[in-house]
Amino acid sequence: MQLTGNTILVTGGGSGIGRGLAESLHKLGNQIIISGRRTDALAETTKANPGIVPLPLDVNDPEAIRNFAARITTEYPNLNVLINNAGIMRPENLRELPNGLANSEAVITTNLLGPIRLTAALLPHLQKQQQAAIINVSSGLAFVPLPVTPTYSATKAALHSYTVSLRVQLAGTPIEVIEIIPPAVATDLTPGRIPNERMMSLEDYIEQTMQILKTQPTPSEICVEHVKFLRFAESSGNFQKALGMLSAVTL
Ligand SMILES: NC(=O)c1ccc[n+]([C@@H]2O[C@H](COP(=O)([O-])OP(=O)(O)OC[C@H]3O[C@@H](n4cnc5c(N)ncnc54)[C@H](OP(=O)(O)O)[C@@H]3O)[C@@H](O)[C@H]2O)c1
Repeated sequence: MQLTGNTILVTGGGSGIGRGLAESLHKLGNQIIISGRRTDALAETTKANPGIVPLPLDVNDPEAIRNFAARITTEYPNLNVLINNAGIMRPENLRELPNGLANSEAVITTNLLGPIRLTAALLPHLQKQQQAAIINVSSGLAFVPLPVTPTYSATKAALHSYTVSLRVQLAGTPIEVIEIIPPAVATDLTPGRIPNERMMSLEDYIEQTMQILKTQPTPSEICVEHVKFLRFAESSGNFQKALGMLSAVTL
């Protein structure tokens, strides 16, 4: 993937990892469009980065996605990169279901149906571009679950699997399919979660991720060192050890 001259949509670009990627890619000479639900977060980001464009979108709403896709491809016909970054994380106590089912369903709608619906809506347009990319933000928890967030971890495992299939189906087309696999990063993903020494700072994470993204050819999976223990836990024989460590985590 070339890292300049693109027109890039970043979902959840008003905060955290999405904002960090949007700002870094903007500085490299790309047209950036950020989306999300909170217009104040989008406005704050665009004010701090003149040239970045805000286009609000709730990825939970299928009709809004269809309308958004029609609008963005009309207003930005050169759109060639989609970064499916928007996501939510909710702790769930599975012993208390069905009280917790609303959380489970919300997490699936945002983290899994969101990227699937937006990809489907934009794929016809992306297929017409000379060079394009779909970048899905999964998680190290796709590879070893965090038991206190079972549905979150499951959506990320599913998004990883979907991304692998998408890459196979789009092989031989101008669309690259890339998976960004973050470790624990200090963001507002879980409100109230206190940053700890096991988390990467957002600044370090974005810097290292951008370095890997610049590698040519771009790796299909963007794994900073910090996430490799989880990403390769199964193949390195460390799955049970990693699961044991994550099982001790409370939120
Ligand atoms: N931080 C970590 O430790 C970590 C680790 C692995 C993976 N990740 C993944 O990284 C991605 C970004 O998370 P983050 O850590 O940067 O947290 P964050 O700051 O909370 O960012 C999440 C973004 O998603 C947007 N979003 C949530 N629901 C949405 C919806 N229905 N429609 C549109 N946008 C929505 C939010 O914007 P609005 O609220 O304005 O809609 C927000 O900007 C997520 O997919 C997350 O799962 C994070």
